[in-house]
Amino acid sequence: MLNYDIVVVGGGGAGMRAALEASQNNDLQVAVISKTFPTRSHTGAAQGGINAALGFRDETDSVEKHFRDTVKGSDFLGDQDAIEFFASNMPECVLELEYFGVPFSRDEKGRIAQRPFGGASSPRTCYSADKTGHVILHTLYEQCLKNGVKFLNEWFLLELVVEDKKLQGLVAMDIRSGEIHPINARAVVIATGGFGRIYWSRTTNAFNMTGDGTAACFEAGIPIKDPEFVQFHPTGLAGTGVLLSEACRGEGGYLINKNGERFMSRYAPEKMELGPRDLVSRAIETEIKEGRGFGQGINAYIHLDLRHLGKKKILQRLPQVRQLAIEFEGVDPIEEPVPIRPSCHYMMGGIHVSDYRTSSTPIEGIHAAGECACVSVHGANRLGGNSLADVILFGKFAGIGARESARDRSFSSGARVQKAAEKWMKHFNTMREKTRGNDVIAIRNKMAETMWNNVGIFRTESEMAEALDTINQLLEDYKDCYIGVSDKKYNMAFINYVEIGNLLKLAKAVAMGAINRKESRGSHSRADYPKRDDQNFLRHTMITKEEDEYKLDYLPVKITKYQPEERRY
Ligand code: FUM
Repeated sequence: MLNYDIVVVGGGGAGMRAALEASQNNDLQVAVISKTFPTRSHTGAAQGGINAALGFRDETDSVEKHFRDTVKGSDFLGDQDAIEFFASNMPECVLELEYFGVPFSRDEKGRIAQRPFGGASSPRTCYSADKTGHVILHTLYEQCLKNGVKFLNEWFLLELVVEDKKLQGLVAMDIRSGEIHPINARAVVIATGGFGRIYWSRTTNAFNMTGDGTAACFEAGIPIKDPEFVQFHPTGLAGTGVLLSEACRGEGGYLINKNGERFMSRYAPEKMELGPRDLVSRAIETEIKEGRGFGQGINAYIHLDLRHLGKKKILQRLPQVRQLAIEFEGVDPIEEPVPIRPSCHYMMGGIHVSDYRTSSTPIEGIHAAGECACVSVHGANRLGGNSLADVILFGKFAGIGARESARDRSFSSGARVQKAAEKWMKHFNTMREKTRGNDVIAIRNKMAETMWNNVGIFRTESEMAEALDTINQLLEDYKDCYIGVSDKKYNMAFINYVEIGNLLKLAKAVAMGAINRKESRGSHSRADYPKRDDQNFLRHTMITKEEDEYKLDYLPVKITKYQPEERRY
């Protein structure tokens, strides 16, 4: 049996920031389990930047303004104590990144450069061209190596083992050898990112964003908070859903319909293209629905026009955007407008974090940070640039929390962990030998199509109820599927099979949360309940899984300073 004081599951920004903090004094053995090589993690998709009220570009910016913008952006569903903590700690967190070696772009005085982003009242998004997440990953990886963090790359989490609401350890597969390992740990940080792949064919998410840590926590008895709040990024490439950063609009890009209008003047007359993402995505879809888009049906789109920014600025500030547009859409933004359409980007909901100062969950010894976690600072809609901020800040505090847990807790006997590993070995062998059953990929495709059509940007009761029935049926079908690959080493068919099981469980939570929230708030937009209803729904959804049963409960929102009011942009 492997023994580590702290195991971090997930090698992205939140995971590595947690590991770095946990390994500060070299007195604890810290391991990171990562499904891919850490510098290839999905944090790299946070292209445009990280928010911190440094006040370099606009000296009137402040922590208070960041706090207020985030509360308003969340449509008042974010917990204000946590948001204040978040905004207050961000300047120090970004300066720490700079000291670690993150190569931020610079302003004319040599300070960290900042750009405007959606829903922000000052330009506070710190960036490194349009590769901010990517450079943060590389810097954190180097720092972790320096601190002696052990990386178990291409390892895959199968189960968190819990007894009496206390962590015992975990089970993971070394994908390369196919060996399944019981791991004893005193503390675990889950940092496995989101699960946008429930919308498989139309998401900015990497293929591996399958909510493995979220599903493992759900199985271990931790509630999923606010799963119905799914962010659709306004500017996914039309053909593939691949992200074109909000930095495009931050640098001055226009959104144009087929009549040549900058249509955002109808939806956000003050902020225009820099409205918050929920509003801009709905505006684009409304233009398409009302016949002012280009193309038809699933192939419809509108234009993102960057030509007026000029070649120099595009090459300097948006080089990756240009490359992505050329490679995935066949369009050079220097020469032509780029076809775009909203694409599933981010899960505001996730693993319930009960104490944001330590990123603790209700299970002793388990912490969670980054997109997989719901603190909640993003509430019903996250602002661009607040994702990397969340990753770095709550990753750091998860590392602090995990250190405390590791100090206070002893290793389990390992018996339960060993038993859980044996159960998984048996299951792996059964699946390798099985020769017939339902097709996993067909199940996945049906799930994605159902979620996009019925639990997408605009929602209604009857469509969502139909989606829930379909997902329930798919969960039944999943119980008897086969993978068709008998190899032990690198059995990606088995990994895909487990991933799709994780996605199905989470898709059901999304549909259930959405059906029960009979109002429109942030990214959750219901044609049958078009208004926000603070009387009945100014509260968090909490969904818990007991065997196959999903139980629904609610938690009050923490309002400290800003009373809910109508959002105008
Ligand atoms: O648009 C972007 O660059 C993405 C950033 C984010 O999701 O925060």
